[in-house]
Amino acid sequence: MLVLGIETSCDETGIALYSSEKGLLAHRIYSQIAVHAEYGGVVPELASRDHVRKVLPLVDEVAQAAGVTTAEITGIAYTAGPGLVGALMVGACIGRALAWAWDVPAIAVHHMEGHLLAPLLEEDHPEFPFVALLVSGGHTQLVKVEGIGKYELLGESLDDAAGEAFDKVAKMLDLDYPGGPEVAKLALEGNEGVFKFPRPMTDRPGLDFSFSGLKTAVSNAVKQHTVDGPLPAPQTMADIALGFEIAVAETMVIKCRRALEQTGYKAIVMAGGVSANKRLRAKLGEQLAKKGAKVYYPRHELCTDNGAMIAFAGWQRLKAGEQTGLDCSVRARWPLSELSPPGAVVE
Ligand code: KG4
Ligand code: ZN
Repeated sequence: MLVLGIETSCDETGIALYSSEKGLLAHRIYSQIAVHAEYGGVVPELASRDHVRKVLPLVDEVAQAAGVTTAEITGIAYTAGPGLVGALMVGACIGRALAWAWDVPAIAVHHMEGHLLAPLLEEDHPEFPFVALLVSGGHTQLVKVEGIGKYELLGESLDDAAGEAFDKVAKMLDLDYPGGPEVAKLALEGNEGVFKFPRPMTDRPGLDFSFSGLKTAVSNAVKQHTVDGPLPAPQTMADIALGFEIAVAETMVIKCRRALEQTGYKAIVMAGGVSANKRLRAKLGEQLAKKGAKVYYPRHELCTDNGAMIAFAGWQRLKAGEQTGLDCSVRARWPLSELSPPGAVVE
């Protein structure tokens, strides 16, 4: 099969071609950062309009890069949720319409299932079962993964998602959007131990997360150390960024360790935009190795939103005969645990 993947759930247009024989042939990600930067966050209407402009030109570009014609495509996978409804509608309608025009099956893909399966695109990939730590702009979840479509939510954030916490801390430090990579960059200049922020919800049992207390602690530190001028001194800002990043990383380590103990599994998959964070990867890898567990992630460009993960997740279902009907509906909210194993034909 040759599957076209279309991702438009937020502020990246991701298009990819995945071949069941040859693997990922080509993919392109067009980031809308420049469109939203001046607003300090994603403006949904602008996101939808930009996806409209980009999807079809990117399909042509990816086909050319893959050395195939669109006539060779045998299935189309598009993100149907969770995400921004207008943005999702663009990818879903274009994907569905192309599938109808080309007379090939289409499949609606769950965005987080895409993230969760992305590490399977790599040569060094985990076998089922594993625990997935999904950390993106909208989600922070620990999921027990027995197989494709067999997901049990073990814990999640009760307030902000990890990526959202990074983005809000970035705002406090007057850094650009999206904040995660900016906070990480600033943290490289920081000194360890100057700020020790709370490790939220690690003192009680359970696998849920909460980032509001940590955010407040960071906000208080910023205010306390702002003496002359609108912000603390540059070195203090870097120390705060590092203190925050370490607090998030250690919280994740503690929760992942618990999830491994609870399930008895030996592999953790880390996926979603925040999994691009190098310190988080390093800490998790090194700390969980002590427990005999291995951490897997996708390559850097497949951590944040992309079409490759959607093509791949879609193929898992298309090859089992599953397909989505002509209605092309999308969902802003869509719990991962509602998914079933591949095979059911959705009409
Ligand atoms: O998965 P993703 O691309 O989009 C969603 O589905 O939400 O994740 C985006 C999130 C943003 O909050 C962004 O700030 C965060 O991932 N992020 C990072 C890093 N790169 C992206 N957070 C921390 N460190 C990074 N290097
Ligand atoms: Zn995502």
